[in-house]
Amino acid sequence: MPRSSREFEDRKRREFLQRVQRILDVKQGEAESLFSIDLQSSVRINQLAPLSAADIVQQMHDANVDLEPIPWRSDAYHLLSEKTAVSQSPLFQSGLAYLQNASSLIPPCAMDPQPGDAILDVCAAPGGKSSDIASLTGNDCRLWLNDGIAARLEKLREVVAQFFVRPDQITDFPGQYLTKHIDTQFDRILLDAQCSGEGMLNLRFPKALRFWSLARIRKFSRLQEKMLTEAFKLLRPGGVLVYSTCTLAPEENEAPIDRLLRIAPAASLEPMEFTPTGARPGLTRWQDRKYDRQLEHAMRIAPSTFHEAFFVCKIRKSD
Ligand SMILES: C[S@@+](CC[C@H](N)C(=O)[O-])C[C@H]1O[C@@H](n2cnc3c(N)ncnc32)[C@H](O)[C@@H]1O
Repeated sequence: MPRSSREFEDRKRREFLQRVQRILDVKQGEAESLFSIDLQSSVRINQLAPLSAADIVQQMHDANVDLEPIPWRSDAYHLLSEKTAVSQSPLFQSGLAYLQNASSLIPPCAMDPQPGDAILDVCAAPGGKSSDIASLTGNDCRLWLNDGIAARLEKLREVVAQFFVRPDQITDFPGQYLTKHIDTQFDRILLDAQCSGEGMLNLRFPKALRFWSLARIRKFSRLQEKMLTEAFKLLRPGGVLVYSTCTLAPEENEAPIDRLLRIAPAASLEPMEFTPTGARPGLTRWQDRKYDRQLEHAMRIAPSTFHEAFFVCKIRKSD
């Protein structure tokens, strides 16, 4: 690598690690090791499958798949065996079990979808959380799946078919202009927003920070603000909107929510009643910004073996 480009990479690495230190309140060495973990997968039992959950778990035991229960999700397990033990088995291919990072199990759990609910998933592809929502309600909900990138709908449709999901609608509207296209009100909305994806970075790879930059974080922040404002308009009074990202950056997490709280008096934040590994409250201060105190109810997940870095926030619209 030419010297100047090496210096540029080193500077980026220092900048990224300094931010991690401040966001997670850890020392530099810890920040580095938190982002050098080889993440392990978890597995969710698909309650829409034609077999009972007990039979699916038994099939996994029979196939010597080693599982560890997840205390806050009775239908999911950390996978102690190799991922291929499930991904290459009929368990996955016939839609009995879905492989996910455990952090991705948090937003549907925070939504707490109820039978009969009208539910919108704004950024649905490839469909991991949509199929979880459908599984939690036994397909007894009016599920509207949207993703702004039309090319990703093909994969979403595959997941829908493979995991027995029965959506009402599948659309490709841009999240920042939702109300131009949708005039329905929803009981629950998931905005699992497009983000800079810091949760998926592994600093053991030399080019891990190739695409990382503050400019990119700010670009996503603007998109997330717009999508959140639009999605909130489609929430019925009393309804719940869950906002999530797989990134640490407060500009992409606390900032869009703080802005919503300032412009929408009907919005308030609620705590989540379960505590995944690595959970900590959202920030009420970042650099020179002060955020609404309610952001303490948000949940940021620090990386660990089964959890990628993540952020989740539960927003209610008052009646
Ligand atoms: C984090 S991924 C969603 C993952 C998905 N919820 C799941 O669990 O499988 C973000 C998604 O946002 C979509 N997206 C990007 N820009 C968008 C926009 N302007 N409006 C709506 N969706 C968008 C991307 O295509 C991508 O599928």
